[in-house]
Amino acid sequence: MSIHEEANKRRTFAIISHPDAGKTTLTETLLLFGNLIRSAGTVKGKKSGKFATSDWMEIEKQRGISVTSSVMNFPYKGLEVNILDTPGHEDFSEDTYRTLTAVDSVVMIIDATKGIEAQTKKLFKVCRMRGIPIFTFINKMDREGREPLDLLEEIEEVLDIETYPMNYPAGMGKRFLGNFDRHGNQFVRFTSNEEEKAIPYDELDDPQYEQMVAKEEFQLAKDEVSLLDEAGEEFSLDAVLSGKQTPVFFGSALAPFGVQTFFDTFMSMAPPPAPRKSTQGVVQPDNPDFSGFIFKIQANMNPAHRDRVAFVRVCSGKFEREMSVKLARTGKNIKLAQSQQFVASSRDTVQEAYAGDIIGIYDPNVYRIGDTILEGKELFEYDELPQFPPEQYKTVTAKNVMKSKQFKKGIEQLVQEGAIQLFTKYRTESYIIGAVGELQFDVFKYRMQNEYNSEVILENIGERVPRWIGDEKIDDSLFDERNMLVKDRDGTPVVLFKNEFSLNWFKDKHPDVDLIDLYEAN
Ligand code: G4P
Repeated sequence: MSIHEEANKRRTFAIISHPDAGKTTLTETLLLFGNLIRSAGTVKGKKSGKFATSDWMEIEKQRGISVTSSVMNFPYKGLEVNILDTPGHEDFSEDTYRTLTAVDSVVMIIDATKGIEAQTKKLFKVCRMRGIPIFTFINKMDREGREPLDLLEEIEEVLDIETYPMNYPAGMGKRFLGNFDRHGNQFVRFTSNEEEKAIPYDELDDPQYEQMVAKEEFQLAKDEVSLLDEAGEEFSLDAVLSGKQTPVFFGSALAPFGVQTFFDTFMSMAPPPAPRKSTQGVVQPDNPDFSGFIFKIQANMNPAHRDRVAFVRVCSGKFEREMSVKLARTGKNIKLAQSQQFVASSRDTVQEAYAGDIIGIYDPNVYRIGDTILEGKELFEYDELPQFPPEQYKTVTAKNVMKSKQFKKGIEQLVQEGAIQLFTKYRTESYIIGAVGELQFDVFKYRMQNEYNSEVILENIGERVPRWIGDEKIDDSLFDERNMLVKDRDGTPVVLFKNEFSLNWFKDKHPDVDLIDLYEAN
């Protein structure tokens, strides 16, 4: 098979959701489709202890959560599916965001009983910033939830994206009858023990369905579907692929119901790996030379060996085991001696990989997040990974001032690795670290102590609203502890506003100061 055909078969996506919306359950059902696991309950080893792939650090064990994102891949109906897991705990980190730079589409799960929740909103913002196509699965229809029209309206209003319900539920919870499949012009019955049973629209007047059709839930949903047909958005694959419209599916990951139809439709619409921008122009996925970029570095996967693994998203060509590549940043040759592919239950050695695939390579402490590795004569780098504005801030100092060398080295390396973001106070140059999730601080503290033998003291500054300042010549007398002026790693001034209110107040008073929101600038 040619490189072109191989790349075209890849479908690489992440599932985003708020904890408890059903990500694990849905993933499990998908893995069942891929024949990767034989029974449900395998992935969720956080309780059973069976699934230990990401069980790499004490902190993780203590909290019983997955700090890092793992990758699963399986063949499905002629395609190669890669699912990138995003940590589901509220304490998620920048890794979660960065994972989204390595996927071609996203599945957003919404709990029908709750609607849009905080973490989904944050992750959605990053998808939007990158124009990633988003497919929505509204889960838990087997429970009493919110009205479907209400949920659709919420998605449109809160997330500012057009919705197109691919199917539409009749009833919910105990009264859940099934879905109107607008895409396939059929009604799919929700039956607990049988296979999903589809009835073409024109057969619904058959006497055997009389009872069901007469039900209030059925009639109400039928009216609402007619309303959507007349007044709702039109389906547009172009709008979906550019991230302006999201196809919405209703179902139950647990039953499972509606998952097969959802996944088949999603697979038929999800884009294969796209060409990527680089410093030497756009690189096609079927470019014969291998290239890829590092979106995540994970230290201490195996505490006994203290090794580090760099996660590479392949962007072009063919990856082969033990191949030699160049690190674009330094121009140096590197032999990729130990490469791994990630499967739900184990880490296997990968023999070959193509655009869209994710591989893990051994990192002898030379890689940085955002690095490009490639073969071929020409050196180029993929677009820099965006910097995600931290939300939480703490000052950091070394407990033992005698050990300032280890302290500096540790901070430098962890910052380079992207574990945490570093800022310095404008005048005093004291260190402030920023993170998108509280957990990053715990990991930082733990690793400073265990890897660099440096005990650190963290003091809370709290949640802040950061704005980068376009103008280098800044009058620092405008700022105080409330609206704190700091510098980022590159020396660019940043104001950490106490809250939105302070930010708006400042904007009113100083309309001439150019304040940049990274979410909008990226
Ligand atoms: P997460 O990975 O997004 O955090 O969610 P997870 O799949 O773990 O699901 C959270 C809870 O919601 C689980 O129940 C799960 O069984 C339930 N759930 C998921 N999908 C559905 C659905 O379609 N319908 C219903 N009724 N429930 C669903 P739990 O009691 O917290 O966990 P467990 O002990 O049952 O595993």
